[in-house]
Amino acid sequence: MAKNQIISVHFNGVEIGKIGYDEDQKKSSFQYNPDFLETGLYKRLFPYIIRRSPNTQVYSGFEGETFRGLPPMIADSLPDYFGNIVFKEWLEAMQKDFVNISPLEQLTYVGKRGIGALEFVPAKEIISNNTIDVEEITEVVKKVLDVKTSVSEKGLSDISLLNIFKMGTSAGGARPKILVSEHKETGLLKAGDLEYSEDYNHYLIKLSVDEGYSKEKVEFVYYQIAQSLGVEMMPSKLIDDKHFATLRFDRQNGEKQHILTASGMSGWDFKKPEHSSYENLFKLAVDLRLPHKDIEQLFKRMVFNIVFCNIDDHLKNFSFIYNAEKDRWNLAPAYDLTYPLDALKNYTRMSRAMSVSGKRTDIKREDLLKIADLFTIKNPNAVIETVLSATELFKPLSDKQNIPTKVIEKIGSEFTKL
Ligand SMILES: Nc1ncnc2c1ncn2[C@@H]1O[C@H](COP(=O)(O)OP(=O)(O)OP(=O)(O)O)[C@@H](O)[C@H]1O
Ligand SMILES: [Mg+2]
Repeated sequence: MAKNQIISVHFNGVEIGKIGYDEDQKKSSFQYNPDFLETGLYKRLFPYIIRRSPNTQVYSGFEGETFRGLPPMIADSLPDYFGNIVFKEWLEAMQKDFVNISPLEQLTYVGKRGIGALEFVPAKEIISNNTIDVEEITEVVKKVLDVKTSVSEKGLSDISLLNIFKMGTSAGGARPKILVSEHKETGLLKAGDLEYSEDYNHYLIKLSVDEGYSKEKVEFVYYQIAQSLGVEMMPSKLIDDKHFATLRFDRQNGEKQHILTASGMSGWDFKKPEHSSYENLFKLAVDLRLPHKDIEQLFKRMVFNIVFCNIDDHLKNFSFIYNAEKDRWNLAPAYDLTYPLDALKNYTRMSRAMSVSGKRTDIKREDLLKIADLFTIKNPNAVIETVLSATELFKPLSDKQNIPTKVIEKIGSEFTKL
């Protein structure tokens, strides 16, 4: 790609605007398509940072690996840790150098296959193939993640890498995952990167690749507990008794849904502590004019994360979903609720991603009540009690999944009493 690059962003079949990227300065710019502005549609598509103005807007201050110089709501469409590993491996197999790929060029690989509803034009054509075998894919992913072996020694074919590349690079997060669509009648699985019709159920599958025990089974148990507590989550299931498959909230009713993570929405880097607090997340939600029931829901999720020791509760693990018809934002269903550490290892100090009352450890009931007070949460003590009592579900549900006793005991011992 040329040094100064430009690509278009589309939503719902309309060109919203163009993003530019200056390779030397590592700065980006955004300009709305004047015809789009004139329609008056989707006024709150990008509620912050990208102003609704016909002028070209230049962005600085978003350098670094999270936003890579782009406006955060655009950077949200880039792959994260796992997607980048696969992307790198695939490019290496194709003899291209990852270091030279600019964020905009990477977005052309995302093209129409990204999480959410934003599409990038021009999009790189990547050939598609037919059916999917989750077990075969898991084996390839295991090899890809094996950092000790070189690409050539791994002996992976271009086609198997391509498969993972297509299905696994656009979703964010660090854990291995793929996007798959399952035909509602025939059960046939196909790559879920481009398919979004109503004939299919669209899943994000978190693959179980670890030795020791399936972390995805633990995630499934957490999902069952969260659901019993009224934490809103997409229907999820285990595949082959070990992979965690969750229906995608960005693919519903045969349509792509526009979503942004709290990090992409606000421009707060989820890897940095300075903005990573529940107070900020609540403020953001209030500022976005979310209905109060969503604020109550957020409170429940916070309590859940603290009680169940989900310390990886960073700003990319909360998302908002856009209602295009009403031009409104709502809280997206919860995801990535799990015990995020390896239960077979010992950790000395566990500090959570998001602070409460300035604390990342030893959070007490009064810290949660302060937030409840600030954001007028009804009956916070009752919410806390209900979540606490749900810790009793962990052992029986885990036993049912044949999770090793050592793992159950370790995780159970980490629950916060409050
Ligand atoms: N049900 C879902 N529907 C749509 N998008 C989802 C869903 N679940 C997760 N995602 C998206 O995929 C991303 C990765 O998912 P998730 O957070 O579960 O993975 P992870 O690899 O465990 O993340 P982390 O790096 O936080 O450990 C999320 O940030 C979110 O954008
Ligand atoms: Mg996550």
